[in-house]
Amino acid sequence: MTALADIYTRLPDSIDDLPSPPSAEAVEQADYRARHWSSSIPGPLRPGSPEHKRAMADMFRETFNPYRPSVIDWPKLEPDALKRVTSLPIWDIAVQTEGKARLRMAAYARMIDDPDIKDAISRNAWEENRHKEVLTRLVEAYGIEMAPEPPYIEPTDVEWAYLVTGFSECVDSFFAFGMFRVAQTSGFFPAELIETFEPVMQEECRHILLFANWLAWYRAVMPAWKRPWFEMKVLAVWGFLIYERLGLVRSVDADGEEHAQDNNFTVTGTKDMTSQDITLADFMQLCLTENARRFSGYDPRLLRPRLAPNIARTILFVLRLLGRKPHELKAGAAVAA
Ligand SMILES: [Fe+2]
Ligand SMILES: [Fe+2]
Repeated sequence: MTALADIYTRLPDSIDDLPSPPSAEAVEQADYRARHWSSSIPGPLRPGSPEHKRAMADMFRETFNPYRPSVIDWPKLEPDALKRVTSLPIWDIAVQTEGKARLRMAAYARMIDDPDIKDAISRNAWEENRHKEVLTRLVEAYGIEMAPEPPYIEPTDVEWAYLVTGFSECVDSFFAFGMFRVAQTSGFFPAELIETFEPVMQEECRHILLFANWLAWYRAVMPAWKRPWFEMKVLAVWGFLIYERLGLVRSVDADGEEHAQDNNFTVTGTKDMTSQDITLADFMQLCLTENARRFSGYDPRLLRPRLAPNIARTILFVLRLLGRKPHELKAGAAVAA
């Protein structure tokens, strides 16, 4: 059996022939291609159809950016900036999340026979490994203190593990898009770090685009008798994710300390990133705007993840009922910057 590390460290196609270092023009073109994609297949792309499956795999392969994100010579930071970056409570969970994701995606890719889906999910595992490398090197470069990484154990229920990773990426990325924008406009991160993490954010957008379409395809081609069991599993995954997040919130409250493994880091971390007074409504609005912007370049016939945006819309709706509207100007200013 193929070792999982072989899957997440080897691309389905080689990038060794690319010129190194690449020209600025090649880097720019790859960045554009990663954000804009349409299928040449005419007509609707119905989930379950061979056309939809091909479009999903083509999207993932053709938007692949061989150059970014990449490990850079991290700039020396001013003491203030260094302190801000190193004291953020997100690094442990971020590194470990990428480590788990690469393993779980590789495990799922290994058991798939369909060449299109196998190619896409293997590549996704490779990209998670690249994220982990970038983060690990950054942590080393800035001497960020880390809790020891737990051992990464191959999942026994591979489908369950893939669903957990896929759905949590959908939720985490949605809020991370907003958090990243806050960090960018507040000047919290130095420009080099923003530049390095921007393509990581866009890759997560591609990952959840792939996951949403994989899920629709998987449901459509699944024999009817398997479906009820699968839907129970999906519900259990959501139950687990909610428990995981609420469970950690409770542990923070109980001992009065911030937990190092805060799974709600995209929301809690945002408060640390700006001196601006960002309300919950502002933040939800910003996440929705950023989410729409990041997906806007991709073929509208491919499905988008809906749950996290719907949660944000529901929160906004309730806040409006309570008379707490987002500050339109502030959110708009942040986006325009
Ligand atoms: Fe990632
Ligand atoms: Fe991802």
